[in-house]
Amino acid sequence: MSDTSSPIDQTAAMLNEPVLVVKDLKTHFAVAAGSVKAVDGVSFSINRGRTLGIVGESGSGKTVLARSIMGLNVASNATTTGSVLYRGRELVGTPPKEMKELWGSEMAMVFQDPMTSLNPVVKVGRQLTEHMRAHLDYSKTEARHSAIELLRSVRIPEPEARFDNYPHEMSGGMRQRVCIAIALACGPMVLFADEPTTALDVTVQHQILNLMAQQQRDRHMTMILVTHDLGVVAGRADEIAVMYAGKVVEKAPTGPLFTNMRHPYTEALFRSIPKTSQAAHTRLAAIAGRPPDLIEPPQGCKFSPRCPYAQERCRDEEPELQIATDPGHAFACHFPVGTEENRRAYESNLAAGLPQTLAVAGRMQATEEVTG
Ligand SMILES: Nc1ncnc2c1ncn2[C@@H]1O[C@H](COP(=O)(O)OP(=O)(O)OP(=O)(O)O)[C@@H](O)[C@H]1O
Ligand SMILES: [Mg+2]
Repeated sequence: MSDTSSPIDQTAAMLNEPVLVVKDLKTHFAVAAGSVKAVDGVSFSINRGRTLGIVGESGSGKTVLARSIMGLNVASNATTTGSVLYRGRELVGTPPKEMKELWGSEMAMVFQDPMTSLNPVVKVGRQLTEHMRAHLDYSKTEARHSAIELLRSVRIPEPEARFDNYPHEMSGGMRQRVCIAIALACGPMVLFADEPTTALDVTVQHQILNLMAQQQRDRHMTMILVTHDLGVVAGRADEIAVMYAGKVVEKAPTGPLFTNMRHPYTEALFRSIPKTSQAAHTRLAAIAGRPPDLIEPPQGCKFSPRCPYAQERCRDEEPELQIATDPGHAFACHFPVGTEENRRAYESNLAAGLPQTLAVAGRMQATEEVTG
């Protein structure tokens, strides 16, 4: 049957295509003390051209998740189970040799530190062209021409001259642009960006994030933006998944996540974003308590030992992800933020002598509600 739909319909259909469907993905590492449950049952789906932000504090499993999806978890002590469908094709259990064919041309990753992903003794131009020649069957001249155009598109000034630079001859921001160019070189469908800007100063950070967003729009790429900073994904991601101890504890379109956050951990992350209204040098609220042990995680809700609202039920029974009233929003909490039960839980904890750090964390929220 011939396709008689209009170009607009075709574009809409293309953008409705689920590119990645992840179901109950787990990656555990066997160590002497037991099993590190770094990713412990993550599910999500993301369409073509969309951006998913994955947010969580250090050790919550963001990098292991991204690497598990790409099949890059080559540690011999790792076991990955569950399902990752990439455009309908199952990737979990696919042999590394077959996965390698997807790297670069279908999925690519920009890492946190450009120095670890660039080879310090090879000129940047050659690092780009090698990549293209391996995947795209380009001649030397074609690859050089494309590499220079790509360097131009990521706004490297004088790309013809920079082509012959070694990485150490470039600034940090420029090196990160080269890494983005390498990731884009073979036209991937999905771009993973794992904390791509943490090593850079704030102005360069914004430039790099904007550049990636522009490249994403131009190429209809799907992007997974991994960061510990909710501020980085605000306005950049269509949807946000908040990770805690290897699980997604809240997931929502970006707007509702910020205006109607339900999980106390999301609220704590939100409080740790610098506010423009704050005076310079104001100390940010750190999240009270320590990240959980991933070998023997706390019983019940894994956030309960650090949560100012936790009740007996939270320590006994792990909450399932439940659907909120707004579309696409889900959270895993027995006493969600913004409810009467949540307020009562906090008051009863305070009356029972909540540890100082948690009480302060909760009170900050109460004050913000009053003054905000
Ligand atoms: N090969 C390994 N063996 C054992 N544990 C591991 C291994 N690789 C990662 N881990 C553990 O898995 C957990 C999740 O690590 P991951 O790097 O995904 O965290 P993250 O959220 O990316 O943190 P960050 O923000 O610091 O980058 C950590 O506790 C880490 O120590
Ligand atoms: Mg990481």
